[in-house]
Amino acid sequence: MADVYRDPRLRELTGASVLVTGGGGLVGSRIVAQLAACGAVPIVLDRFDAYPQPVRDLFRVDRHGARVVLGDVRERATVKWLTGRADYVIHAAAYADVAACTRRPDTAFAANAHGTQTVLDAVVASPVKRLVFVSSAAVYGDGTPAGDGVVRFSEDRPLNPISVYANTKLWGERQVRLMLGGSGTACSIVRYFSV
Ligand SMILES: NC(=O)c1ccc[n+]([C@@H]2O[C@H](COP(=O)([O-])OP(=O)(O)OC[C@H]3O[C@@H](n4cnc5c(N)ncnc54)[C@H](O)[C@@H]3O)[C@@H](O)[C@H]2O)c1
Repeated sequence: MADVYRDPRLRELTGASVLVTGGGGLVGSRIVAQLAACGAVPIVLDRFDAYPQPVRDLFRVDRHGARVVLGDVRERATVKWLTGRADYVIHAAAYADVAACTRRPDTAFAANAHGTQTVLDAVVASPVKRLVFVSSAAVYGDGTPAGDGVVRFSEDRPLNPISVYANTKLWGERQVRLMLGGSGTACSIVRYFSV
């Protein structure tokens, strides 16, 4: 077993039920594999319509698997049922193609804003201990040059989304903090760069 899985902080994941929205996608499927390697029990909710089958095969998440639910994050009853049985939620489902979001802002809004709100509504009313929101470095825009003229990205840099996609991710971040801050559910936000 790789050393990273021996990190004592990961012990509480042993046997824990972790709902991964978008777990059938590029990033989500890697999260699912890492969770399984930690001894957690990942449960996937995904529409499974972002890729053709040969690509899905590469991600190795069987959409007919026992812990895989074919569905949309906007389906309230499904999300409520799943969060009611989860210890943790990693919300990675999104319309994640930046150019496609610009062409189809309505679809971006539906998946990334409406979908995120549905997940948050369910999590607030559930026993989930922590929600992790998968955001994007796109919230920084092109970045701002430091004094030496070099553009560096760090968490204290100004946020300047310059695309429909980035707007939806920043809205998601703020909505997570608004709805879960001060609630019984902890939250974390991670900003991936290009994967
Ligand atoms: N890939 C990157 O470089 C990158 C960088 C920064 C952030 N992210 C974030 O990581 C997450 C995953 O992105 P990805 O690159 O793996 O994209 P992806 O398209 O490979 O995965 C997204 C998954 O979400 C699913 N999905 C989309 N809308 C859904 C809905 N309404 N209901 C249920 N499932 C739905 C898709 O079917 C897909 O399997 C997203 O939140 C994205 O914003 C990705």
